[in-house]
Amino acid sequence: MTNALEIKNLVKRFGGLTATDDLSFDIEQGESIGLIGPNGAGKTTVFSLVMGEHRQTSGTITLYGEEISKLGTSSRIRHGVSRTYQVPRPFAEMSVVENIRVGLMPDSIWQMIAQGPNREREIELALSVGFDEADLQRTPAELSMGDLRKLEMARTMATGPKLMLLDEVFAGLTVAEIAQIAELIQQMRKDGMTFLIVSHDLKALEPLIDRTIAINYGRMIADGSFEDVIANEAVRSSYLGTA
Ligand SMILES: Nc1ncnc2c1ncn2[C@@H]1O[C@H](COP(=O)(O)OP(=O)(O)OP(=O)(O)O)[C@@H](O)[C@H]1O
Ligand SMILES: [Mg+2]
Repeated sequence: MTNALEIKNLVKRFGGLTATDDLSFDIEQGESIGLIGPNGAGKTTVFSLVMGEHRQTSGTITLYGEEISKLGTSSRIRHGVSRTYQVPRPFAEMSVVENIRVGLMPDSIWQMIAQGPNREREIELALSVGFDEADLQRTPAELSMGDLRKLEMARTMATGPKLMLLDEVFAGLTVAEIAQIAELIQQMRKDGMTFLIVSHDLKALEPLIDRTIAINYGRMIADGSFEDVIANEAVRSSYLGTA
C-alpha cells in the first residue's frame, strides 16, 4: 500500500543551525502519528518543509507516491496535505465564515467566477468544528483561543486534505476546549483522515495517535508506541527531564 507520507534523509539548515538532521520516517494512509520533542527540536520545521514553505537543504518528501519536494505550497495542498499553525493566523478583517471561504477558494479565478462561493460548505465546516450560528459573523478579535484553534482546523479542512499536520492544537486551551478538538480529531480519524500531530500536551495527544516519533536537535531519537517512546532513555533525558 502506498504511504501517505515518506520523509527520507531530510536536512534543513538555517545558516549554521541544523533544524532537521537526516530525518526519515513514513506515515501510512489512515495512521495518526504524534511528533514530540523539546522546544526547538525541529517539529514545526518538518511541517514547513512538507508544505514547501521552506525548501529542504537535502532529502526528499513523497506524498501518496509522488515526490513533492520541489513543488510549491499550493500544488502540495492540491496533492492532499494541509497544516495548522502553532500561532493561529486568521485574516483579522474577515469573519469566521469568510476565513473558511479563503480555504475553500478554487485556484483559478475562472473557476471561482464559474462556481461562486460555496456557502453551504462554509457553514457546514464551521459547524463541524463546533462553532454555532451566532459565531459565524464574528471576527478573530472576538474569538477565544479555543475558537481560534477551531477556525484553524476548519481552514485546514477546507482545502480537502487527506493528510493533516496539526501544530500544537491544544496550546492555550481550557480542558473543555481540548476535549472538543480531541473529539473532532477522533471523528476525522474514523472517517479515514491521516494525521501528524505536534503537541506538548502528551495527555491530550496519547489517545489520538497510533504511533509516536520523538526528535531532538532535528534528529530522530525514537519511533514506536507511545509507551515505548515515553519510556525511552534518550526521550526521558532530552524531553521529559526525568531520567
Ligand atoms: N526561519 C528560521 N530561520 C532561522 N532559524 C529557524 C527558523 N525556523 C526555525 N528555526 C530554528 O530551527 C530550530 C527548530 O525550530 P522549530 O520551530 O522547528 O522547533 P519546534 O520543535 O517546533 O519548537 P517548539 O516546540 O518551540 O515549537 C530552532 O533552533 C529554531 O530557532
Ligand atoms: Mg513548533
